[in-house]
Amino acid sequence: MGENMEISGKTAFITGGARGIGFAVAKKFLEAGAKVTIFSKTTSNLEGELDKDKTLIIEGDVTNRESVREAIAETVQKFGSLDILVNNAGVAKREWFMETDEKDWDFVIDVNLKGAFIVAQEAIKIMREEKGEKLVLNIASGAGIRGVDEIAVYSATKAGMIVWAQALGDELKDTNIKFITVAPGATDTKMFRDLFPGEKPYNTSEEVAGVVLGAATGEIKPDERLVVDVFRHFQNR
Ligand SMILES: NC(=O)c1ccc[n+]([C@@H]2O[C@H](COP(=O)([O-])OP(=O)(O)OC[C@H]3O[C@@H](n4cnc5c(N)ncnc54)[C@H](OP(=O)(O)O)[C@@H]3O)[C@@H](O)[C@H]2O)c1
Repeated sequence: MGENMEISGKTAFITGGARGIGFAVAKKFLEAGAKVTIFSKTTSNLEGELDKDKTLIIEGDVTNRESVREAIAETVQKFGSLDILVNNAGVAKREWFMETDEKDWDFVIDVNLKGAFIVAQEAIKIMREEKGEKLVLNIASGAGIRGVDEIAVYSATKAGMIVWAQALGDELKDTNIKFITVAPGATDTKMFRDLFPGEKPYNTSEEVAGVVLGAATGEIKPDERLVVDVFRHFQNR
């Protein structure tokens, strides 16, 4: 498999892409000439926002396998292939671990981990039957590299995404499918503002999306854990 990926003409499926980091990634990929499916829980805010020929907007939940499968089939039908999956949909709850009830941790684990598993399984079924380079790009978090207090369960799901991508990368090393995880730091989105009101984020969604695009094209290399650490990326420049 080549080192760099040409994005132009490729089809990307972005979960949770209706706002925040996912939406910024969708716009960056479109600018780079890709076709994009945004698969997100609510999409009414996207009315008239994006080029209809190059974009498919589908409302759905990553934890619902049937809706994921249908959305992927619709994507392939409209654009002819599925080349890049961006596992971006995510949720967080801020609470002390000892005060977290099982309903809350089930919710965070279901969306962030099981949701990503479901979407990846359904996407890989299609990708491995197609020719050409394919990429599964997970959006984890700096909290998955070093756990953060009050978001312990979220941190665990993000660490889970990192090691899961490594394991899957090894399982599928002889195929056309590559795995990368991008781990953003504090980014100015609704999620961050809701979790940490009044605190200052390090990055804009657009900055993070630039790193995601760079990681997808191969311009920004992941470390030996297959991770691109966004905070360090900007610190080291
Ligand atoms: N912002 C940060 O500081 C930061 C830092 C590190 C990592 N991240 C990660 O980056 C990703 C994007 O975060 P963000 O900050 O852009 O969050 P955000 O502003 O809350 O956006 C998340 C998007 O995902 C959608 N979504 C949530 N659950 C979903 C589900 N079950 N199925 C489909 N779509 C779903 C949301 O839709 P609804 O609102 O309609 O539910 C929303 O459009 C997440 O994985 C997050 O953990 C964020």
